Amino acid sequence: MIMLGIETSCDETSAALVKDGRDVLACTIHSQIAQHQPYGGVVPEIASRSHVEVLPSVIRKTLTDAGITWSQIGAIAATHGPGLASSLLIGFSAAKALALSQNKPLIPINHLEAHLYAIFLGSNAPSPNDVMPLLGLLVSGGHTCLIRMDHLNQYTLLGQTIDDAAGEALDKGASLLSLGYPGGPIVEKTAQHGNPTFVRFPRGKVRNVTAKHIDPNLCFSFSGVKTSLKYHLKKHPEQLQPETLPDLAASYQEAILDALAKRFSLALQQTGVHHAACGGGVACNKTLRSKLTDAASKNHCTLHMAEPKYCTDNAAMVAGLAHHRQDASTEAVFSQEINPNLTIGKKL
Ligand code: KG4
Ligand code: ZN
Repeated sequence: MIMLGIETSCDETSAALVKDGRDVLACTIHSQIAQHQPYGGVVPEIASRSHVEVLPSVIRKTLTDAGITWSQIGAIAATHGPGLASSLLIGFSAAKALALSQNKPLIPINHLEAHLYAIFLGSNAPSPNDVMPLLGLLVSGGHTCLIRMDHLNQYTLLGQTIDDAAGEALDKGASLLSLGYPGGPIVEKTAQHGNPTFVRFPRGKVRNVTAKHIDPNLCFSFSGVKTSLKYHLKKHPEQLQPETLPDLAASYQEAILDALAKRFSLALQQTGVHHAACGGGVACNKTLRSKLTDAASKNHCTLHMAEPKYCTDNAAMVAGLAHHRQDASTEAVFSQEINPNLTIGKKL
């Protein structure tokens, strides 16, 4: 069955058509980076206005690119959380209206579950049933968590950040280093020829969490590394010069990626699973991909990584997951609303 997916949880407007949960027939992504760049971060008001302006043409282009008509579409899926309320509202309301007018089922999709589903997109991707149980590392601008996945609708939260997300820490670090926005890709580029041992920034060990079922050793804390960079720059402003800037960027990135890889490795040992996945925007990072690959092979585990174009926000992961959620598409779904604070697995 062909699903139309719509994603507007933050600052990307995306629509995609995916067949049988795997074959991406078309995926259009309109990025708002240029509009938010002058402000150094996402401005919710600008994001939602831009979604309103471009979503109709993004959907039309997706249908044209795939050569698909409305009659060939089985259902309409859209992200209903988590994310920015005013952004989620645009895509989810559009999906509701389209589903009603085209007489199709509506399928609400959890953005975090969709990020992990991205590993199942494309002709070389594994089949979900062949890789369960799976350890998932989700690393984006808003979330950082380790999740055990037993089925596509059964998730257990093993650990998560107690403050900033990994992508958020990279974005804030980039701002302190005057590198621009969004930080992750620029820090990666700047760090390419830098020395990751130039400064040892803290790895953010978490000692206590209130939830009894969560192991603090599988949790993350990234606010300290950002503060540490801030004070380091106060002491050594001269290191912002071109000669040492790559070393600073590499050291900062290393602290964040090292923390991710160490917790990932520990979670692999604790769960003993044979398959792992990584999704979310930070999963584009080549150094992270190589660290996780090493950790997985040391733990006799196969790592499945989404293609970089499906790591950052996109609607293909939404349309793909929707294929496995067709039971949920009843009339009652139309009364469902967006949920900006939607979680995955159990709450901390
Ligand atoms: O998944 P995503 O597109 O949006 C959210 O759901 O948050 O992730 C965006 C985050 C941003 O923080 C961005 O800096 C980071 O992903 N990111 C990267 C890279 N590309 C994007 N971080 C590190 N290296 C990259 N190459
Ligand atoms: Zn995302």
